[in-house]
Amino acid sequence: MPSQTPAADVPPNPAALLLAWYDRSHRRLPWRITPPMAAAGERADPYRVWLSEVMLQQTTVQAVKPYFEAFLARWPRVEDLAAAETDAVMKAWAGLGYYARARNLKKCAEAVARDHGGRFPGTEEGLRALPGIGAYTAAAVAAIAFNQPSAVVDGNVERVISRIEAIETPLPASRPAIRRVVVSLTPTDRPGDFAQAMMDLGATICTPRKPVCALCPLNALCAAYKAGMPERFPLKLAKKAKPVRYGTAYVAIAPDGAVYLRKRAETGLLGGMTEVPGSDWTSAPQAEPLSDAPFPADWHEAGAVVHVFTHFELRLAVYRAEIATPDSRLGNGWWQPRSSLMDEALPTVMKKVIATAEPGLADGKKGASGARAKRKDMTA
Ligand code: ADE
Repeated sequence: MPSQTPAADVPPNPAALLLAWYDRSHRRLPWRITPPMAAAGERADPYRVWLSEVMLQQTTVQAVKPYFEAFLARWPRVEDLAAAETDAVMKAWAGLGYYARARNLKKCAEAVARDHGGRFPGTEEGLRALPGIGAYTAAAVAAIAFNQPSAVVDGNVERVISRIEAIETPLPASRPAIRRVVVSLTPTDRPGDFAQAMMDLGATICTPRKPVCALCPLNALCAAYKAGMPERFPLKLAKKAKPVRYGTAYVAIAPDGAVYLRKRAETGLLGGMTEVPGSDWTSAPQAEPLSDAPFPADWHEAGAVVHVFTHFELRLAVYRAEIATPDSRLGNGWWQPRSSLMDEALPTVMKKVIATAEPGLADGKKGASGARAKRKDMTA
């Protein structure tokens, strides 16, 4: 067991200090095995690690938990996910956002089942060759599930390292320097626990605001703490304002509460997801807001929705109409019963639209969507 109070002439080993803290203070998460895993010779299941890491790129640990449990209950092995209907996966993913990830998730499961006999490759390189696995996910799965000494760098880790080193270069330009520090700190013994310990430290102690430095196992090594200004780091370049796009959305409601829905084109933003009919999203508000209504009806303005995507902000005017005699042959959509509305692959923006037209019908504020905004790097 590493000592927390090394002799004065021995420089403290950051990885040993962090791992000792992790053994005491790690978060208990459904995809983790209880540390110290190397000591027990145990390894986390690569399928669970991969699934959780892909989900965690979308949102917070708290918001991911129910999605993770639901996926595992329904598709316990990678082969099960590979054999699932894409539509079912999209629906189970709805609310997590950035739906291209759900498509890639399915493609990756297919590749592992088809080309690798249901076993994830055990190296960063092998993992990177799979669909939808980028540098971060490959490093995280290699370290956590295969005990590879990969440098795992997410937003939490960037903050922790920026503070320890008091890096004066703003993000994102400081990323190569941060990576070099992580490479130098990552131990060959328990690299997966080390990576998760860094993340837990960032999430629970070295938080963006009001970090709890008194409890930090690395405070004696932290330049930002010593300088008395941990919150100053990481420095960030001022963000450019996002462009704004405008559109109109139409919520048609039948006497029994059914809502008229349609499917979006397979490609492009929110590809293949379900939506209420609407106009194109353009750089100025629609001059004739009713010109794109799916059918003539007594449309009334019901409110507005603002939703922030990765590359733009969307402002939708929401119109509502009650349809006395819903016609199942109308347009290219269908009438979705109220009771099964939430089973549809409705992206968060559409849940907000429906909730605006009919409060209580689809509450866009609940579930992962609210928490998702906390990860500013990836919203859709
Ligand atoms: N965030 C992303 N991956 C994580 C993990 N494995 N543990 C804790 N937080 C995380």
